[in-house]
Amino acid sequence: MAIDGPAASGKTTTARLVAGRLDYVHLDTGAMYRAVTLACLERGLAPEDTPALQELLGSLRVRFESAGQGQRTLLNGEDVTEAIRSPEVSRKVSAYSALGEVRSRLVRLQRRIGGQHDVVCEGRDIGTIVFPTARFKFYLVADLEVRARRRYDELLARGLQPSRADILEELQARDRHDSTRALSPLLKAEDAMTVDTTDLTITEQADRVAGFVEAALRRDADIRNIKEEAARHE
Ligand code: CDP
Repeated sequence: MAIDGPAASGKTTTARLVAGRLDYVHLDTGAMYRAVTLACLERGLAPEDTPALQELLGSLRVRFESAGQGQRTLLNGEDVTEAIRSPEVSRKVSAYSALGEVRSRLVRLQRRIGGQHDVVCEGRDIGTIVFPTARFKFYLVADLEVRARRRYDELLARGLQPSRADILEELQARDRHDSTRALSPLLKAEDAMTVDTTDLTITEQADRVAGFVEAALRRDADIRNIKEEAARHE
């Protein structure tokens, strides 16, 4: 299952809840791009430092561990769950995620995980590039003001002192950068269903996505039953 959409459109909360409800594995690809960005910033590597970046990519290990309701992100064994959400990583991640070396490595990892489990995979290029044959594709959108307010509340809840103006600017810059980059830009897959979360609560948006999937799976099961029944009578 693929969930794509712009920054702070509700992908992570929706993916987490839907994965829990359907018993799928939640795969947050944004966390992977953020972890690579954090590693580069810690080592003072600019996006242009190609050889050093390639070497770093070869030695990085990104893993996820479930913890209670959520998920921890581990970078070479170190818990970076909080660090990858810092304003600095948010500001810089688009520049690193636009690099071919970074994308090919992470997409390979994402496909490997998707090949081993039923996943709810969220990101920017999941329905278009990573899993173009995903059975279910959703594209989440929400008004910019609402997205900025959500991110503001989220940072506030984490004990930071965010500035509304900075958040608005960061979201706009990131969306622009992510949508216009040459490689795998943020794009709605033609066969994705758009869900506008502007006026929806978290429960409502998760219900809408999970409800759609559950109804389709029920129909699949009904059709299977009818076919089996028909075969028995032949
Ligand atoms: O949670 P939020 O909406 O702020 O963003 P995210 O999903 O954590 O993604 C962070 C950044 O990673 C995005 O702005 C993209 O630059 C990049 N990304 C990407 O290029 N491709 C993906 N499949 C997922 C994220």
